[in-house]
Amino acid sequence: MIFEKTGDDDIKMTNHTRFGGCAAKIGPGDLSDVLCGLEIPEDENVICGIKGFEDAGIYKINENLALVQTVDFFTPVVNDPYWFGQIAAANALSDIYAMGARPLTALNIVCFSVKKFGTQILREILRGGIDKLKESKTNLLGGHSVEDEEIKYGLSVTGLVRVDKIIRNEGARSGDVLIITKPIGTGIMINGIKAGIISKSSEGHLIKTMATLNSCASEIMVSVKTHAATDVTGFGLAGHIKEMIKENLGIILYANKIPHFHEVIDLASSGFFPSGFYRNRDFYIPYVRSSINGPIFDIIFDPQSSGGLLIALQEDEVHLFKKKAYEKHMDFWVIGSFVEEPKGMILVE
Ligand code: CO
Ligand code: CO
Repeated sequence: MIFEKTGDDDIKMTNHTRFGGCAAKIGPGDLSDVLCGLEIPEDENVICGIKGFEDAGIYKINENLALVQTVDFFTPVVNDPYWFGQIAAANALSDIYAMGARPLTALNIVCFSVKKFGTQILREILRGGIDKLKESKTNLLGGHSVEDEEIKYGLSVTGLVRVDKIIRNEGARSGDVLIITKPIGTGIMINGIKAGIISKSSEGHLIKTMATLNSCASEIMVSVKTHAATDVTGFGLAGHIKEMIKENLGIILYANKIPHFHEVIDLASSGFFPSGFYRNRDFYIPYVRSSINGPIFDIIFDPQSSGGLLIALQEDEVHLFKKKAYEKHMDFWVIGSFVEEPKGMILVE
């Protein structure tokens, strides 16, 4: 591998925290404990702040317009530095797209040792990031780097959104359908790549999928009757669905409709789970009731890197969503239905 492992038992991937950032090795719920009792100044223009459990922070700059801010960085998830750069950038931009905003500016975050890895690898990582920023029409304004034996890369991204167009992770209604825009299983697949047991074609598909921007999904979602959305990252499908239903709604999840990468089921059957999988499962299992088990069930706890959007869409708009997705050559899957009862529960069937 080009990127050295750092003594941990798995490649550390994005573990999306509840506070607009992402940090490896901080599990669901942990940051709530850490921040408990700390006083955070309040401002009436803060629409989504540190207490909001949202994808990004939102600050109103006038009656119509708001700033959307997020930061995400992580250790390499693939062997190729150029693709790693693209994936890290797509992942950092994703929280902006998840809220229906458009990205405007970005700053690089780099932890790197030139002495250990040389300049060429860093150049390739940054080239990957810049290519994704170009694709998303985001301006790179600068950044910050620190000497670090363990490579980490990501971006702080600022976007803009019309105040009346903000899409949050809560707001789904009973009767809405749940749409996902990328297959799941990246955590398990990355483990498989590390073990050298993934076919080249599956690896290629995985990498391209993770590097795909959620811009297209976001554009479509804001043009139809979307009630809520988020992106699937470190807490896995179950965790991010739980953020959408909270204690207000339930959801029926159709296990056989959940898209996953080709080799994920085989890998899951052999127990190729990253450590984040176990953390997620332990934390979210009390909110899940399932009539099935085995790998097809397990993958809902797999932590995702640069996952797709989860969209709560008014049911009679599915045909419109489908038409728009077809025009833009974007894949999507309807994987569930929001229900009134049982509140706070994910029913897998
Ligand atoms: Co994030
Ligand atoms: Co997010």
